[in-house]
This record gives sequence, structure tokens and C-alpha cells, in this order.
Amino acid sequence: MQTIQTIAEMRKAIGSTEGTVGLVPTMGFLHEGHLSLIRKSQESCQRTVVSIFVNPTQFNDPSDYENYPVDLKKDLDSLAKEGVDLVFIPNPAEMYPKGRLKVQMAIPELTANLCGLHRPGHFDGVLLVVSKLFNIVQPDQAFFGLKDYQQFLVIRTMARALDFPVDVVGCDTVREADGLAMSSRNARLSEKAREHAALIPRALNLVQKTLDDRKGRYSVNCQELCEIAWDVIESGTMNKVEYMEIVDPDSLQKLDELQQDRTARIATAVFCDGVRLIDNRAIHF
Ligand code: PAJ
Repeated sequence: MQTIQTIAEMRKAIGSTEGTVGLVPTMGFLHEGHLSLIRKSQESCQRTVVSIFVNPTQFNDPSDYENYPVDLKKDLDSLAKEGVDLVFIPNPAEMYPKGRLKVQMAIPELTANLCGLHRPGHFDGVLLVVSKLFNIVQPDQAFFGLKDYQQFLVIRTMARALDFPVDVVGCDTVREADGLAMSSRNARLSEKAREHAALIPRALNLVQKTLDDRKGRYSVNCQELCEIAWDVIESGTMNKVEYMEIVDPDSLQKLDELQQDRTARIATAVFCDGVRLIDNRAIHF
């Protein structure tokens, strides 16, 4: 496994690589969710590049950036075990040199709600860093988790709009045994908060169950469904729901009603004892 820290070295390593390249961008503190993307990449590409970079431009809250967990040694051990070819660990000072004019990227139509609304500037930072990584690594395929569903759509839209010759692949959410979506942020939960966090997937699953129970009706009101899930989550006293929305799976536009045979996505963000967790799932009526 080759570990690379500069853009020039990364370009050189990729230039001398034969066959297809898969890229898995991460912010490190790797868990099974990240590893599932790496395995997907290894199945379909001849070489896999994993980047580890806690990207400062996507944190709208400075304390979230400062508290973001880091364990580079453990990450490199797991990547070596997975048989990863190249690890790219760029330096913030090279990615964002002081004094350089700021470039801003935005897709307003996909970021007016959900995390886009609640984390102003977040997706601008994600788009900037991912387009830089695409440009540096020039992957044939890039792998992203559907746990960050809005992020996946925003990145795929950007890649198509800017004609990056990369196939942006979405991968299913990997969960703990009790259903909680794996996240680097879960490490910041106390034992008690961790129990309350498990209410998040339960609430989302209950929405699908409610839809199953209402089969035969012409339509179902989305606000009513969201309230059911909201209440389940806040029955955990450490939980505070930031948003809960049912949206069209492609445009992310908010839906008021679900008609029969309609597929949608329910997405939520929850502060669990102050730690911000997100989750979503497909729902079908
Ligand atoms: P990070 O949170 O480290 O996540 C890296 C990738 O792993 C993302 O594509 C994310 O959706 C995926 N992932 C996280 N948890 C997952 C889970 N439980 N199941 C499946 N996939 C999961 O997302 C970012 O970093 C950054 O925004 C990044 C894209 C690297 C840009 O800086």
C-alpha cells in the first residue's frame, strides 16, 4: 500500500497506473460503512484509491471541525488489511493555499432543504473538495454512501454538469445490529445517548410500517408520517430533531402527499446529546 501526501505525487502515481481506478473519498476514522465502499470499488475497479481528508471548507460549525475524530494509525491499519492500493492524505495547506481566491460551487435546487438548509455552505465545501479530488485522482468510478443521500445526489449532479468522466456510484447504508447507521460521529455518543440514537432508524422503519398498514387508501399525508417519526425519536429525552422530511428521491423536493405506488425518501437529522446524526431510507406506499 502506497501512502501519498502531495498532489504532484498523487498525479504521478495515477499516471503510471494501468487499468480502471476507483476512488473512495473519506474524512477518516474509518468504520464498516467506509470499508463497504472500498470493497465495492475493489470489486469493480482494478485499483482503489482512498482519500483521507477532514475537509475544513465543509464544516459550517468550527467546533464540529475541531472535535472531528481522528485516528490515522488505525485507519492505515484497516486500509492495509483491506488490500487498498493507494491512500491519499493531502495537506490542508496544499489543498487550500493561503491567499488564493475562493472558488464557490453550488447547486441551489438540490440544497434548499434538508442538510443544505441547516448547514449553510456545507455542500459548497463538499463540492469543492470532491471536484478537486476528481481532478487530481481522475477516477473511472467514485463511491459514496447513500447514508448521506443529499450529498450523493449533489456530487452526482456536479460530476455530470462539469463532464467529469467519472461514474458516481451510490452504496447502501451499513448499520449497527440495532439499526443505527454507522458514522464516525457515533464515537462521540455516551452509552446512554447511544441507546437514544437507536430510536432514529426505528422511527424511520415505523413510517414504512405505517404505510404498509394504510395500503388500500388513495393517499397518505406526509406531515402526519413525519410527526409519527419525530415523536418516536424525541421520546428519547437526549434527542432533538432538527428536520424530518419526505422528499422526491431524485429532485429532493418536499412531498405533501404520497399517492399509491409512490417511492420517496424520508430523511432526518437529530442532535443526540449534542452530536448531530443523520439518516434516511427509501419508503414506498
Ligand atoms: P465521511 O463522513 O468520512 O464519509 C465518507 C463516505 O462514507 C461517504 O460517501 C459516506 O456517505 C460514506 N458512509 C459513511 N457512513 C456510511 C454508512 N454507515 N454506510 C455506508 N456508507 C457510509 O462524507 C464525507 O466523509 C465527506 O463529506 C466527503 C465525501 C469525504 C467529502 O469531504
